[in-house]
Amino acid sequence: MTDPVNTSQQAAVGGLLRAVGDALGGPVPAKWGDAIGAVPRHRFLPERIWLEDGKGGYEPCDLQADSGRWFEAAYADVPIVTQVNDGETPEDPADAWPSSSASAPSIVVRTLRELDVRPGMNVLEIGTGTGWNAALLAHRLGAGRVASVEIDSDVARQAWASLNAAGLDVDVRCGDGAEGWNRRGPYDRIISTCSVRHVPWAWIEQTRSGGIVLTPWDNPMLCWGLLRLTVERDRAQGRFSPHSAFMLMRDQRHDLRIFRDVVRDEHVPAESGTALSPWKVTGDQWDARFALGLRLGDVWTAWEDDEERLWVATTDARSWAAVDRNGGQFTVGQYGPRRLWDEVEAAYRWWEGHGRPAPERFGLTVTGRRQWTWLDHPSRVAGAVRR
Ligand SMILES: C[S@@+](CC[C@H](N)C(=O)[O-])C[C@H]1O[C@@H](n2cnc3c(N)ncnc32)[C@H](O)[C@@H]1O
Repeated sequence: MTDPVNTSQQAAVGGLLRAVGDALGGPVPAKWGDAIGAVPRHRFLPERIWLEDGKGGYEPCDLQADSGRWFEAAYADVPIVTQVNDGETPEDPADAWPSSSASAPSIVVRTLRELDVRPGMNVLEIGTGTGWNAALLAHRLGAGRVASVEIDSDVARQAWASLNAAGLDVDVRCGDGAEGWNRRGPYDRIISTCSVRHVPWAWIEQTRSGGIVLTPWDNPMLCWGLLRLTVERDRAQGRFSPHSAFMLMRDQRHDLRIFRDVVRDEHVPAESGTALSPWKVTGDQWDARFALGLRLGDVWTAWEDDEERLWVATTDARSWAAVDRNGGQFTVGQYGPRRLWDEVEAAYRWWEGHGRPAPERFGLTVTGRRQWTWLDHPSRVAGAVRR
């Protein structure tokens, strides 16, 4: 007799693989399709997950209370938030912010494809989360080949239990992934599933020469891009590709707010005008935003509620600029040791002057002493990466 649970699970996996194929623009590679079929995603999710509430926030969805919605989410090509507020329950669900998640399956497959793992390789994952990504790797590479570091002890414990229940041998360690995990290295591949603003040197030191370090990228201006570095003897370098956003590694997080941390009543800004529309540097011209983020390095932006004023500030909170719409013109106020809007304009002109390069033309070099981004070649510096 057919097992109805298995039949519906198979149908759900089939639907998920089609959705992932649509997102990737082609069928899921058989080796990862097989792994997704063999490692059911729902077995790696906690009973309480958090789903988008349609108002820009999250609402809890419990397996016991709403198994249909819970199961549907498990097999949709969407990221699922599995922990909010570093494990603290917010009094008001509207205050929930994601601190751990199961990444969208199409993103998982895309990054695994970029990782280019082969049998016999030793792989370290940073950011275990639910353990599903590590499970797919372990299914492919076999016992004793995959290690994973997770900073949150509850998340690490839950992932270990799920991997164990699935009969997969992954070495899960609770610790700070910025330190890698030296005892299990050297690695052929390191994959991070949390984004970084600078690449921890430990990852390069713990990867074999010729090995790959793959990590989502974050910049104060834009969290976007996947960085694939090849490790050489004294450095690692490689290029970015466009990609969606991942949550930031915990110790690289920032929580700056314009009025609380930057702008003071006594600040008197220098006033001027600009022909550059603030929407050109904050709108859906992603290539420009990505390039400006690399060029400027430590600059972030925030709209005032009604999108009538754009704030720009440095991450050291010492300089700021405000751009206001004034009829068909824009007026600018700049305060602090740096003239930030002038820097934004210069960076935009630089991007235009170089033929409006897309993210794929940019790369990053890491040495033990410094890190910098570049356009087309490591000698053509785009910006310095600040720690
Ligand atoms: C997007 S989730 C991981 C998705 C996961 N790989 C999966 O398959 O479900 C990112 C994870 O990185 C973890 N994380 C954040 N900062 C970290 C750090 N410094 N070291 C290790 N893990 C970290 C978070 O706690 C979170 O669980």
